[in-house]
Amino acid sequence: MKVLVTGGLGFIGSHTVVALLEHGYDVVVIDNLYNSKEVVKDRIKEITHKDFKTVIADVQNEVELEKIFKEDKIDAIIHFAGYKAVGESVSKPVEYYENNLDSTFALLKMMKKYGTKNFVFSSSATVYGEPKRVPMYEIDPVTEATSPYGETKVMIERILKDVAKVNPDYNIALLRYFNPIGAHKSGLLGEDPNGIPNNLLPYIAKVATGQLKEVSVFGNDYDTPDGTGVRDYIHVVDLAKGHVLALKKLETKPGLCIYNLGTGKGTSVLEMIHYYEEACGHKIPYVIKERRAGDIATSYANCDKAKEELGFTCDYSVLDACKDGYHFQVEEEKRKAEGK
Ligand code: UFG
Repeated sequence: MKVLVTGGLGFIGSHTVVALLEHGYDVVVIDNLYNSKEVVKDRIKEITHKDFKTVIADVQNEVELEKIFKEDKIDAIIHFAGYKAVGESVSKPVEYYENNLDSTFALLKMMKKYGTKNFVFSSSATVYGEPKRVPMYEIDPVTEATSPYGETKVMIERILKDVAKVNPDYNIALLRYFNPIGAHKSGLLGEDPNGIPNNLLPYIAKVATGQLKEVSVFGNDYDTPDGTGVRDYIHVVDLAKGHVLALKKLETKPGLCIYNLGTGKGTSVLEMIHYYEEACGHKIPYVIKERRAGDIATSYANCDKAKEELGFTCDYSVLDACKDGYHFQVEEEKRKAEGK
């Protein structure tokens, strides 16, 4: 089975490509390197000892995209490519709507033209907006998201639901990720955003390795056990495995299906800092700051559906993810210092 992975050199994409290659899938990657590096391709090959085609181009570049469909019979698409910075999306709504929606349209056109029937979409827990209850279930209402980024996920889910209705031979999985963290055991793949990280774990990682002074904890007056925000942090290798299981599900021709991918457990910001201290073996300085606009108190998944229908369970704990994330950060900084 040949799978086109958009954004396959990014954080979740690269780990998923590893999982796909390890499970015997043929992979074609398209990535425009907006938030990734070309060297990731070599690192995936080093881990898997397998080769795969990579096209460095934008998904919206229909000439390049169509070449892929002409040259290879694509059986399934996993669509990761997209802008994903919540804060930035507030100041650049047009760019976010245009990029995230147009790339999806380009893929849907190719599916129609070249007969690809299977599609896995990188959605997010953000589609639950301000949740009515926690844990969140797949049947819970998809409401207005709290950012243009989130709204692109809501809209694309809606589009894919409508597309599925008129194409009963299509099989589409909407995977709602909670908070992916961690890195590949090898230290070769992980998350290393350019500039000051927006997300908690990449930020802690840079404090742990001395590049940033201290973690700002955004609010300690939430209605949670220690007052700090609670999230469902899932190891990216577990999340990657979820994509292989979703593809297997699509082979049973289920039509459109939706799954939360998380651990089902919430961890607070302070707990996370303590896990990271255990992982790196020293204290992580932090200061309490104001709440960050748009944040919710608590978000974690009910994962029964993914467990029952996909056989999805997590192999790694939050502490494992902190250890792997720290290992990657240390290795990445060594590589940078050596100019690699
Ligand atoms: N936080 C801090 N300090 C920081 C960064 C974050 O205290 O420097 C806190 C936040 O307030 C929140 C928690 O850490 O309580 C997690 O924040 P992240 O930014 O790491 O993640 P979010 O839960 O805000 O957002 C993530 C993804 C989004 C996705 C959302 C879905 O970044 O893409 O989960 O629930 F939409």
